[in-house]
Amino acid sequence: FEQTYIMIKPDGVQRNLVGAIIARFEQRGFKLVALKMVHATPEHLEKHYEDLKGKPFFPGLIKYMASGPVVAMVWEGLDAVKTGRSMLGATNPLASAPGTIRGDYALAVGRNIAHGSDSVESAKKEIAHWFPEGIVQYRSLLEDVIFELRRTVLRG
Ligand code: GTP
Ligand code: MG
Repeated sequence: FEQTYIMIKPDGVQRNLVGAIIARFEQRGFKLVALKMVHATPEHLEKHYEDLKGKPFFPGLIKYMASGPVVAMVWEGLDAVKTGRSMLGATNPLASAPGTIRGDYALAVGRNIAHGSDSVESAKKEIAHWFPEGIVQYRSLLEDVIFELRRTVLRG
């Protein structure tokens, strides 16, 4: 299955939204395969957001992201990258639909609560960048129920 890198930003941590955000991914059916809290250095964050270097908001973005700890996670499941992005909602909370993480919890683009990989390729890069030690592998007992892997018999 596909994996995506999801990160609760410092404002999400400060606002005690860690549990609520994790619950959304668990309830959707994704499997948690990596999780840690880190206070990242500006250098580490500049590498994470290297595609945005040169944007006028870049220095402010790095300052914001380095202002406190983040929660770094890898979630796995069918179409994890695209579905993760749709669960986050649009970058600018002005455009994020209610029901999405940003649409429910955020008001400002520069304080938008959480990050999600924008492609399978960036997910691979980001997972390696945040979890150089590697991530775990285990079988979820729910897979037979959530996905159409094989015929599942639910009655006795
Ligand atoms: P991430 O999941 O954090 O990568 O957001 P995104 O993929 O939806 O947007 P993008 O990668 O283009 O921008 C990364 C982050 O930079 C955004 O989530 C915002 O926090 C911030 N950002 C983007 N555009 C603006 C902007 O116009 N102003 C400010 N202040 N911040 C911005
Ligand atoms: Mg992005």
